[in-house]
Amino acid sequence: MKIYAPRMFLRTCLALSALILAPLASAATKPLKIGFAQTGAESAWRTANTESMKSEAAKRGIDLKFADGQGKPENQIRAVRSFVAQGVDVIIIAPIETTGWEPVLREAKAAKIPVIVMDRSIDVSDESLYACFIGSDFAEEGRMAADWLAKHTNGKGRILELQGTTGSSAAGERKRAFAEGIAKYPDLKVIDSQSGNFGRELGKQVMEAFLKKHGRNFDIVYAHNDDMALGAIQAIEAAGLKPGKDVMIVSIDAVREGVEAVVAGKINCTVECNPLFGPKAYDAAAKLAAGQPVLPRKQFNKDELFDATNAAAALPIRKY
Ligand code: AHR
Repeated sequence: MKIYAPRMFLRTCLALSALILAPLASAATKPLKIGFAQTGAESAWRTANTESMKSEAAKRGIDLKFADGQGKPENQIRAVRSFVAQGVDVIIIAPIETTGWEPVLREAKAAKIPVIVMDRSIDVSDESLYACFIGSDFAEEGRMAADWLAKHTNGKGRILELQGTTGSSAAGERKRAFAEGIAKYPDLKVIDSQSGNFGRELGKQVMEAFLKKHGRNFDIVYAHNDDMALGAIQAIEAAGLKPGKDVMIVSIDAVREGVEAVVAGKINCTVECNPLFGPKAYDAAAKLAAGQPVLPRKQFNKDELFDATNAAAALPIRKY
């Protein structure tokens, strides 16, 4: 009896520690479950963004629940609600529109699920409804486009503007900052502005309507993304004009096709908007899932600009 007592004690201790440590070990190895509410597939930029989110999740062994909003804000709200119901660890939202988020974000907060707002910003009265923002500085992009244009036109020209999705921060800030940027040049004016919803086909259709309405009485097209600029180029060429020469074209995104159009002389300048958010977004998600804050709470990418001086050199190393 005396000989076996210490052994039994040891065995009991080992069994107890296994019981205590088992859930901790499985929590450490359990893959992060992340719900991602994407806007849709409206542009080449968006395709690159989705690819970055999916491939990085696969690389890190993240259990990604991906929801394509198909351009409809109500689909995104529904997706976020279903992520809450599924009890994901973190929710990431690339919001189509800035408004309408408060009720569902309150539900996520009540369920103690941290939310990352990615790419576009939102308007909420209570900033604690989301943990952090990781995105682009759309106002800076609009300003860069305006400054480039002012410099290369000597502050003169009639501009047709192709806006992105109405109600999105990307379109709102690119429009506002561009208008502020050209305000110093009284002879540089936006003479018409319509939404092409960040899409190539709609960009083409809006440009066709502009051509009908304004004839040859314009000099510049400012498109809020490359897809709309590329659609507008088709309409401009069909009207017998030379994009990049007869009509100056300034755009945003610097996706591969956009930069190629700069090299071909059809787009005069495109301001970069980097879509490769996967690594940053999941670094932030891992911190939040571990109960740590993401600092700084709002993080913005630093973007470049491509024109005839640097586009050809940049093309071989473009990642999207
Ligand atoms: O929110 C980023 C914008 O959304 C991109 O500039 C545009 O191409 C996309 O659809």
